[in-house]
Amino acid sequence: MKLLLTGCAGFIGANFTNYWLDNHAEDTVIGVDCLTYAANLPALARLKTRERFKFYKTNVCHRQAMDKIFQEETPDVVINFAAESHVDRSIEGSRVFVETNVLGTQALLDLCLQYGVRRFHQISTDEVYGDLPIESEEAFTESSPLKPSSPYSASKAAADLLVLSYYRTHGLSVSISRSANNYGKYQHAEKLIPKVIEYALKGKRVPIYGDGLNVRDWIHVDDHCRAIDAIVSGAPSGGVYNVGSGVLLPNIVLVKEILKQLGEDEELIEFVLDRKGHDKKYALHCDKIVAELGWQPQIDFADGLRETIAWYKK
Ligand SMILES: NC(=O)c1ccc[n+]([C@@H]2O[C@H](COP(=O)([O-])OP(=O)(O)OC[C@H]3O[C@@H](n4cnc5c(N)ncnc54)[C@H](O)[C@@H]3O)[C@@H](O)[C@H]2O)c1
Repeated sequence: MKLLLTGCAGFIGANFTNYWLDNHAEDTVIGVDCLTYAANLPALARLKTRERFKFYKTNVCHRQAMDKIFQEETPDVVINFAAESHVDRSIEGSRVFVETNVLGTQALLDLCLQYGVRRFHQISTDEVYGDLPIESEEAFTESSPLKPSSPYSASKAAADLLVLSYYRTHGLSVSISRSANNYGKYQHAEKLIPKVIEYALKGKRVPIYGDGLNVRDWIHVDDHCRAIDAIVSGAPSGGVYNVGSGVLLPNIVLVKEILKQLGEDEELIEFVLDRKGHDKKYALHCDKIVAELGWQPQIDFADGLRETIAWYKK
């Protein structure tokens, strides 16, 4: 089978490309990435040494160039990791988020229709549901309404709706995974876990938004990769799946744990002005993927975090 993976040089895309090549010995991966600031060039350099991997430096919005790739490569499956992914940047300026996350997805959907791709899988986020009050005991299901808060999550929700519209209107075979916050190797230093590690190791103050009580569900990127595999390999067309670990942590608890593991003082923490529109809490029901596809997270959070910190230190 031939997979086309967009955003293959990003955090999750690079982990997933390695995962797929390691676990599907017969398959070929075509990677597409335009290498924005968020691309991980060392990860890409390593990918380029792998057999059964071919790379195109291309923007998913560039119709002609993408058309040529589809024509030459005739992928069986397309998985869309390419995105502008940082909420703070979407608050500063949202245009590129709409271009890549919405129009980029739309361009890929048209190409999948045109070239008879067997499955288009969209990498989405739990942020499309909006947030819950901190004290809430509820969790979002796949049929919870989409109520995104930030321009980032609004662009992701728009993309999800487009994907489902191509399923309903054109009968395109699609699936969507809505995952919680990922952690692991190759993540850009602007994101919480690598940022805390980097700042602490440099002895810099570690900024935390607001009171630090905002709650996130943290899933190891390898567990997310296994979930995408389960969906792409076994889910019916039109399937939407939440992917979380159930490990819910207030940011302050996570940051203190990282500092403890690094042997650094909690005094490094500096509470800063809260992010505009900051989501309070994310929590996901993941019964559907467990019941239908037999997926379960395998990586214990304490082990995964320890290993991740060791990787960034190195
Ligand atoms: N990181 C998380 O915790 C998380 C959680 C849930 C969902 N997601 C989703 O997973 C996907 C991957 O996230 P990530 O954390 O790996 O992001 P990332 O920012 O690390 O990587 C994105 C990659 O996409 C590439 N890219 C951006 N615009 C492009 C374009 N127009 N054409 C081609 N390539 C382009 C970038 O160069 C980069 O390599 C995104 O869709 C994101 O919304 C991420």
